[in-house]
Amino acid sequence: MAKIIRNPNVEDYFVERTLADAKAGPNGFIPDYEANRLIVLKDYRVPLDFEAFAAMSTNTESADKAMQRVLKKVVSTHIMEATPESTLPVHQAVFKVFCKSDPELLRRAQAAMKVAHDAAISIFKTCFPTYEYFKLIPSVRLTQTMFENMHWDNHNIPEDFQQVRIFVNLDQRPRVWNVSHNFVEYARSIYRERHLERFAGRDPNDLNDYVCGEVLGGSAGACLDTLPRHVVGFDPGEVWMGESRMLAHQIFYGERAMVYMFFVKPEKMLNPQRRFNAQVEALHREMAAAEPAIAA
Ligand SMILES: [Fe+2]
Repeated sequence: MAKIIRNPNVEDYFVERTLADAKAGPNGFIPDYEANRLIVLKDYRVPLDFEAFAAMSTNTESADKAMQRVLKKVVSTHIMEATPESTLPVHQAVFKVFCKSDPELLRRAQAAMKVAHDAAISIFKTCFPTYEYFKLIPSVRLTQTMFENMHWDNHNIPEDFQQVRIFVNLDQRPRVWNVSHNFVEYARSIYRERHLERFAGRDPNDLNDYVCGEVLGGSAGACLDTLPRHVVGFDPGEVWMGESRMLAHQIFYGERAMVYMFFVKPEKMLNPQRRFNAQVEALHREMAAAEPAIAA
């Protein structure tokens, strides 16, 4: 089970649930997920070929800069579909860079990736039984990540959707995260002082940019923010899920992980008002309604 050091100054939003729990009711984990809990899948590990991932190169410097960016968050289908003969540049990079031009390593990596991919899809179906996804970004991080800045995710896309994020630690070492406040709770706490009413009626990604950048310092100020945080170490093969636009997180250390992002239409939710955009809009309405009392 994930090792969690809880900070009493941050909401304790962790829940630990088994797949049997997900199957026990008609809505699986959806109530917890829409309540913006961080759900750790209990008593379950993806049966991964860790050695296959470990044998892959983590050094992408032989690729050009644009390809390095692609490889940093490569989609798993490119790994699963690459062949030594493929002329697609990303397939070539998967084979030559990650798999060191070794056909046998490519074959093993593809088999390992397929196990992880199938597990993520199956977990989505079991844990979110009434959700359907209309889009999936199945990304994999195969290079080291360390000392990120504390942030809430900003996908820089205008779509108003419910996001389900399923994470898997693909490495034999723990993946260490710090996690902090719920985005809306934090925005409420600084709303007047920072004049966040400026962002009412705008794309909520603008508010995210401002809070992550101007308030917390962005990547240039990584690790220098003073938010209280829980510390979490996710085990090898462990699975967790959460709305990363609502839960502040900072990858402190990790080598390899899978991040599957499922796009769900709001009307498929138990409560569409719990999607990210609607919660941000509700905060602006709440603060606008409270303003006269404060001004008086
Ligand atoms: Fe993130």
